Amino acid sequence: MTSSAILNGLSTRCLGRSVFCYSLIDSTNSTAKTLAEQGAEEGTLVVADEQIAGRGRLNRRWLAPPGTSLLFSLVFRPQLQAKRIQGLTMVCGLGVIEAIYQLFRLSAHLKWPNDIVLSRRKLGGILTEASTSGELVRYAVVGIGLNVNLDVTTLPAQFHATSIQHELGRRVPRVRLLQEILSAIETRYVRLRAGEWPARDWAAALETIGQWVELHTPTGTWRGLAEGIDEDGALCLRLEDGRSYTVWVGDIVPNQSEKSASADELI
Ligand code: BTN
Repeated sequence: MTSSAILNGLSTRCLGRSVFCYSLIDSTNSTAKTLAEQGAEEGTLVVADEQIAGRGRLNRRWLAPPGTSLLFSLVFRPQLQAKRIQGLTMVCGLGVIEAIYQLFRLSAHLKWPNDIVLSRRKLGGILTEASTSGELVRYAVVGIGLNVNLDVTTLPAQFHATSIQHELGRRVPRVRLLQEILSAIETRYVRLRAGEWPARDWAAALETIGQWVELHTPTGTWRGLAEGIDEDGALCLRLEDGRSYTVWVGDIVPNQSEKSASADELI
């Protein structure tokens, strides 16, 4: 991937107009944060063919064989309250699945709080990191990793991953997909800046709402019904004893046994 290939045919006004393209980098998010601290303009794009220190949520590593994926980060300078930062993750997630549908007619979904899923397997993830000043966001970096031409048969089964190539049965052009994603995110971001809050569209794109789930958090595991999300993007869980629980951090997996465990058993 090259900067000129990305710029050639890019239809955005802002996103990706300033582009830093690397064959190898530590982490696009880390570099984008450094650039943002140095005053990089809104929409600055950092993209790489390979990361040696790609990061996921909750201090996990993000691994992707060279040249198989889209690995990129965007600098945003939104006028947003820090507690509303999830709005950026929402518009970016929606932009990704809209671009995938537009180009390939594949119906990807989102999974709370920041996964991109296809055929119930993980297609990608979003890592949003913000620098704040008081109650406001100074800048935010949204990093997106997307399995594009990844041969998922080489991955251990427990990854539960898929790729666009795997679903379509053919390789797809990464640059064209990146351009479409940037365009779709920009459309959503302009609306966010104008005050349009994306929670309703985001909730509609989330595949786990209405299901019995297990919620794994750093402090324990909870079981309940994923009733919905609140305005700021927190998950509203109805525990089995009827209590409601609003949560910001964690991973959810479908709970096949449905109400099998009592609330007393919550770990
Ligand atoms: C997750 O599912 O935990 C989020 C993964 C985000 C990975 C992307 S790859 C590009 C960008 N740079 C990083 O270091 N992380 C994000």
